[in-house]
Amino acid sequence: MTSLIPYGKQTITKNDILTVNKALKKNLLTTGPGVRLFENEFSKYVKCKYSLTSNSGTSAILLALKAINLKKNDIVIVPAINFIAAANLSKILGAKVYFSDVDKLTGQMKPSDLLKCLKLNKIRKIKVFFTMHNGGFNNYAREFLKIKRKLKCFIIEDACHALGANNTEKKNDLVGNCKYSDLTTFSFHPLKTITTGEGGMTTTNNLNFYNIMKQYRNHGFAETKNEKKSIRGHKLNYCGYNLRLTDFQCLLGLSQLKRINNFVLKRNKLADYYFKKLSHLSDYIILPNQNKFYSAWHLFIIIFKLENLRISRDKIIKILFKSGIKTQVHYFPNYRQKPFFQKNKKKFIGAEFYFKRCLSIPIFPELSTKNINFVITTIKMIVKKYKKIPK
Ligand SMILES: Cc1ncc(COP(=O)(O)O)c(C=O)c1O
Repeated sequence: MTSLIPYGKQTITKNDILTVNKALKKNLLTTGPGVRLFENEFSKYVKCKYSLTSNSGTSAILLALKAINLKKNDIVIVPAINFIAAANLSKILGAKVYFSDVDKLTGQMKPSDLLKCLKLNKIRKIKVFFTMHNGGFNNYAREFLKIKRKLKCFIIEDACHALGANNTEKKNDLVGNCKYSDLTTFSFHPLKTITTGEGGMTTTNNLNFYNIMKQYRNHGFAETKNEKKSIRGHKLNYCGYNLRLTDFQCLLGLSQLKRINNFVLKRNKLADYYFKKLSHLSDYIILPNQNKFYSAWHLFIIIFKLENLRISRDKIIKILFKSGIKTQVHYFPNYRQKPFFQKNKKKFIGAEFYFKRCLSIPIFPELSTKNINFVITTIKMIVKKYKKIPK
């Protein structure tokens, strides 16, 4: 192996480069027509009413939290296995953050985990709960919507892994259409389904949320309907941020969005290949839940049955790395991080089980047959060498 096989990677074509090149020659590098164009096409793709770009997936979450007016002492529930952004931002805004346990095999919060979290922590009223489609599946959309209605709270979907995935068994019921949530957030970090370098999108069907977010994205300034008549940025409604995405990034996003079906299809084919080649190792490795609704396969997360192996997950990571394969753990449980640290892990049996055994192995549209085969043979070799011999 000459270079490391990453676990994820962007796909950039000549056309993407040409698009950005052209965009850089335009008068407006930011706040130009490219922004609206990307947002409009994104809305058409996921079939939501409003899409709002921002400069990262983290900013997309921040805007969603501002839309629902998250404030001091509001209660937020976040899955224990998650990227840290949702918990960080909620805490920065002064909210009380509680973590819910997750399923031990998918790392995703189940409806029953959410209800258990409320009971365990004696919580009666919450402002919002996050769902996170770990790996690229959306599970339990309908069930979470029922809970939201019962609790009279908001749902924000952190769908940074799931652009291109389906919510349910229904055709074209795409993640981001906000049929089952108030707001959905996406990231366009290079490893995600499509990329703008850095970037994000928040989708919603609520005009009020959209208008609030648009202002927070631009320092809190009121939208001016007729730019020529009014002095730009005159009226400040909120103390906001600059979370704007540039025009050339939006045009790159647009160029990438045109190929999204192809990207997701390729990821699905690679996932099928892993299923075909690794399913016979079921005594040692649990593969992701294949029978769920169409997935974006942002990650291919396998679970090692450590009970049947004489090796730890971390040692496996080292061997793979030495062989030229970069893998990753998604994620370090949020409650193990210093600002959220909780000593008592009893509330998180599922998350602890998952965290110690999970591993994201390479999956991205340009992963070659040669390289995926190398990943498969290396994993098989590790299992063969370290499997416990049955007594
Ligand atoms: C689940 C999840 N949420 C939020 C984010 C934050 O996105 P960004 O890196 O674009 O800020 C990421 C990105 O890694 C993510 O995977």
